[in-house]
Amino acid sequence: MKTQFDYLVIGSGIAGLTFALKAANSGTVAIVTKKDKLETSTNYAQGGIASVFGSDDSFQLHIEDTLKAGDGLCHPDVVELVVKNGPDRIRDLVSLGVEFNRGGESAAAFDLGREGGHSRNRILHAHDATGRAVEHVLMAAAEAHPNIAIFENHLVLDLIIQHRSMNIGSTSMFQQDICRGAYVFDITENEIHCFLANSVLLCTGGAGKVYLYTSNPDVATGDGLAIAYRAGAKLANLEFVQFHPTCLYHPLAKNYLISEAVRGEGARLIDRRGRAFMEKYHPLKDLAFRDIVARAIDTEMKSSGDDCVFLDISRRDSDFIKERFPNIYRKCLSLGIDITQDPIPVVPAAHYMCGGIVTNAHGQTTIQNLYALGECACTGLHGANRLASNSLLEAMIFADQAALHCAANLEAWRSRTLPGVPDFSAKVAQRGSANNEMVLIAHNWDIIRRLMWNYVGIVRTDKRLALALTHIAQIRMEIREHMPKIPLNSDLVELQGLALVAELIIRCAVQRKESRGLHYNLDHPQKDDDSRIKDTIVTKNPAEEFFSFIPVKTDEPVYSAGQALSFRHR
Ligand code: SIN
Repeated sequence: MKTQFDYLVIGSGIAGLTFALKAANSGTVAIVTKKDKLETSTNYAQGGIASVFGSDDSFQLHIEDTLKAGDGLCHPDVVELVVKNGPDRIRDLVSLGVEFNRGGESAAAFDLGREGGHSRNRILHAHDATGRAVEHVLMAAAEAHPNIAIFENHLVLDLIIQHRSMNIGSTSMFQQDICRGAYVFDITENEIHCFLANSVLLCTGGAGKVYLYTSNPDVATGDGLAIAYRAGAKLANLEFVQFHPTCLYHPLAKNYLISEAVRGEGARLIDRRGRAFMEKYHPLKDLAFRDIVARAIDTEMKSSGDDCVFLDISRRDSDFIKERFPNIYRKCLSLGIDITQDPIPVVPAAHYMCGGIVTNAHGQTTIQNLYALGECACTGLHGANRLASNSLLEAMIFADQAALHCAANLEAWRSRTLPGVPDFSAKVAQRGSANNEMVLIAHNWDIIRRLMWNYVGIVRTDKRLALALTHIAQIRMEIREHMPKIPLNSDLVELQGLALVAELIIRCAVQRKESRGLHYNLDHPQKDDDSRIKDTIVTKNPAEEFFSFIPVKTDEPVYSAGQALSFRHR
């Protein structure tokens, strides 16, 4: 199937849905999502959305807190853009029907929570399931919109990139890369479809699954980062992986976060013997920035040999706890932990990717007509460390910015002629059928995640990073070698992306010879403000080859998908 839309949105979390709802006023929108439409990181976000509503708060204070968290690498203009537009985007959500908790300074005012690094209470929340409240309202609006079509179980394989050579004067030429759509694997029908679009929006979320322990859902495999890199886009600062200090530690709890809002409401971190330890590490104690709290827990666990530490909220009134954290309360109780009385066993886990695909203030990447929004983007907001609850905010602001930019350019884009793009539908069956090699997929998933946890985790060293790079190169070679023999399936596609993203994280971490924000290297424990390197950049080397899932290599004229096909068009 070959199909055409004005906008192709990849991912159905807050960034994709916000963009889709705004862009649908100017054109047609396809949202493709690789699993169920609600299976997004947004849906699991507990804490909330930071924005300035308190009478003791100001844009300036929110800006200062964000810059401080970002440890010298935020782009101040972007921080200002995001913070100042926050209240308007919150009002958009409210008018769509999102119900944030009220009862703050007055009965009608928002109830504003506090999280680490914030100097004021400014976290709007819907109990302890803010993301779910937002996701459901946005999804209902998108489903009701006549200009929006949603394709579930559709996994993007590669972007379709046109390489256009342009003359400058009579002698020199330059090449412009333009994104024209994507080849998408329809998992249910086992077919590849060609989605053409005037602009493509990567809203694919994070890559927490690259680590053994993560707060992220299974979908967070960094697909957008991998396909953008293969297409030639610029990525930056991937070493800044935020480890959330408090994920539930229990054999039956998979990826369950204990929101930072719990510490915001007075919970304290304690060791196995009940001793609070955060005062040893920072004057803000339990509400210090996340990198500090995560490293403190890591240090405590390493020095005591314990498997976890504990979070104790039991000194708060039990009715308050049940009302403020109903989901966390129920989840823990289902595992035999009554949080109104018992400390909660917790460990740090990979939570948020602060780096990503480099964008400007409109969400545009370095490839024309390709945008990146939300966690997969590196906009300059987070710098070296993200301030808690700034991510849903960023996703909304940049979705709005991108929608405005796209709408302003749509007529010009529509009038362009598009040379024929090959349609590879129904070719899937021609690929290999080595079902007995499926073990390679599960095995390599596992070793990548362990390797990243052990060698590229909360505390790093040069030696471990160098070893990790060698190991990942070997794993990627093995995957490349066996991929053509294995029938196309989503685990394999995700594995290819996961391995690449792991390597890119390591390459960024190796470049940064200092400790800053979320990147802590024992061999370079200080910040180096004189370093030439501010942002660590990774872009595809022209000689780098990738295996492409697009099954046919075609002669002129074709586009490139990944790097397997190439089209030069003058
Ligand atoms: C949390 O609820 O602790 C997560 C909030 C965030 O990551 O911004």
